[in-house]
Amino acid sequence: MRKDLLRILDLSAREILSLLASGAAWKRRGGRRGAPRPLVGKTLGMIFQKASTRTRVSFEVGMHRLGGHALFMSPEDTQIGRGEPIRDTARVLSRYVDAVVIRTFAHGIAAELAEVSTVPVINGLTDDHHPCQILADLMTAKERGKDLRRMRVAFVGDGNNVANSWVEAAHVLGFPLRIACPKGYEPAKGILDEAEAVGRGDVRIVRDPAEAARDADVLYTDVWTSMGQETEGRARLAAFKGYSVDSALLRMAAGDAVVMHCLPAHRGEEITDEVLEGPNSAVFDEAENRLHVQMAVLDKLIKH
Ligand code: CP
Ligand code: NVA
Repeated sequence: MRKDLLRILDLSAREILSLLASGAAWKRRGGRRGAPRPLVGKTLGMIFQKASTRTRVSFEVGMHRLGGHALFMSPEDTQIGRGEPIRDTARVLSRYVDAVVIRTFAHGIAAELAEVSTVPVINGLTDDHHPCQILADLMTAKERGKDLRRMRVAFVGDGNNVANSWVEAAHVLGFPLRIACPKGYEPAKGILDEAEAVGRGDVRIVRDPAEAARDADVLYTDVWTSMGQETEGRARLAAFKGYSVDSALLRMAAGDAVVMHCLPAHRGEEITDEVLEGPNSAVFDEAENRLHVQMAVLDKLIKH
């Protein structure tokens, strides 16, 4: 594996499948006494420049279960918030900690941190990518019996960081992906091109949610307004009208389709309460699987 996990394209299909298998093994062990603790004495630095519930807590708990320690750093309490360059931060942290998770705005900040750090850097979400989320999503799809090389995935909504990571996963693993989004809200062109160069998937952008959802095995959505886009909130509400994952759309999908959402959800906007709480929904398994698959990532990337 590469030193860092910044995006799904950093992983091969084999590496993804191996992380999912290892995540499933950590899940079976369930943090029991006597479970292996390969990271005793290791510390994970966690730089969070955006809010988080799942990513922060799952990395902290995961590191604890692996026998190590996690250190949360918010911009307010560190010199990062007062403008210390990310390169200097990277050089200093590399002398204290064994890996760093970063959640930030521009993807370039995470990339710069990784370039200068001598320890592994894990992307806990940037404006462009959310690889750990998609690993947990893939683990959940597999648990629900989906074939990761063939399943039909429909992503309905904004072509955001989560959608971009789905595009990359589709190309690395080879499954068909349909993204239904309004004009102007497609995944980033650069990411579509870079992922296509890997060349195994069949990724199409459509306008009609029903066209994407038809016979889908996984029906996925995420918020219409991501962190950092709050000033566009009203315009986005209008632009995404008709792009809700509701019962009518779910009926278009395969009978055993799995509904997924990375959370937090805005019920009544991108997804209805009925679908989120309904029998096809796997959203809380997805949230749980963040913990298990990230334990696999930490175990793999941090030097024992
Ligand atoms: N899905 C996800 O990344 O959630 P948080 O923003 O709570 O970390
Ligand atoms: N697209 C959302 C995901 C949150 C986990 C955001 O970036 O805010």
